[in-house]
Amino acid sequence: MTMLAAVAIALVFPAVLPKVIKILGEAHLSLERKVALEAARKAARQKTDFMAMMSHELRTPLNSIVGFCSLIEDQHYGPVTEEQRIALVRIKDSSSHLVKLVRQILDYNGQERADWEEVELVTFCKTVLAMFDPLLGKYTVCLEVELPEVPYQVWTDTKKLRQVITNLLQNAFKFTEHGSVGFRVSCVDGLVSIEVSDTGIGISKENLAKIFDPFWQVDRRNMRAEAGAGLGLSITQRFVEILQGDIKAQSVLGKGTKFTVLLPQAPDKA
Ligand SMILES: Nc1ncnc2c1ncn2[C@@H]1O[C@H](COP(=O)(O)OP(=O)(O)OP(=O)(O)O)[C@@H](O)[C@H]1O
Ligand SMILES: [Mg+2]
Repeated sequence: MTMLAAVAIALVFPAVLPKVIKILGEAHLSLERKVALEAARKAARQKTDFMAMMSHELRTPLNSIVGFCSLIEDQHYGPVTEEQRIALVRIKDSSSHLVKLVRQILDYNGQERADWEEVELVTFCKTVLAMFDPLLGKYTVCLEVELPEVPYQVWTDTKKLRQVITNLLQNAFKFTEHGSVGFRVSCVDGLVSIEVSDTGIGISKENLAKIFDPFWQVDRRNMRAEAGAGLGLSITQRFVEILQGDIKAQSVLGKGTKFTVLLPQAPDKA
């Protein structure tokens, strides 16, 4: 019924007036909802465009600073004194820190939805773990891996899942000096469980409630690039949400930490 027809009926049959008022009210509400939804969609599109532009505008000059520092350090423009070399290393460290920060802030703010694709989980995990091979010599702990014995097809956003696993493993190595880091994947009844555990410094019960907050760190004194900005876990949690999963942390101070990510094998891809 159009609004005009409803008003005409109400004028002819005054008894139906309350019903017509209700219909008109509902129509007005649904119109308001539609307008609000469209405005929210537009704002989300504008935010994504802005983030993409900022990403390019900020990263390009920063990468150029790092690149030119390397060229000077490699004595491409003539001899470099020890004092100058130390200064160059500091510029490079600070620039790399800034590049990472920009990437993380953009990741944190700019990602709204998943780009779903079908992948074989075991092979995928092996390629993510392979990125840690060159670093294993640098770390003082070993990596223990348990993967499903048979291939397992899942729907996921590989870029985001890679970032989730990498962030958790990087933390595990960063906060563990003795013992081991564990990476275990199992698949049961359409659910994928990814566990990253360590025998590191652990997190107190009080601090465990805050670790997913942006920029929150137990110890903020260390501002080196490797120390990070405290955004890794908030991005991880956001990505897991976009992948329609759940992330939980358990820890015992001084003994170690375990993060468990649960993901659906076949998410709702709407
Ligand atoms: N495996 C872990 N063991 C002990 N503490 C941890 C672990 N993972 C995270 N934390 C604590 O939670 C804080 C937040 O972690 P998060 O990954 O968000 O930030 P970060 O690692 O400090 O920096 P970034 O990830 O941005 O490089 C860490 O600074 C640390 O205090
Ligand atoms: Mg981190």
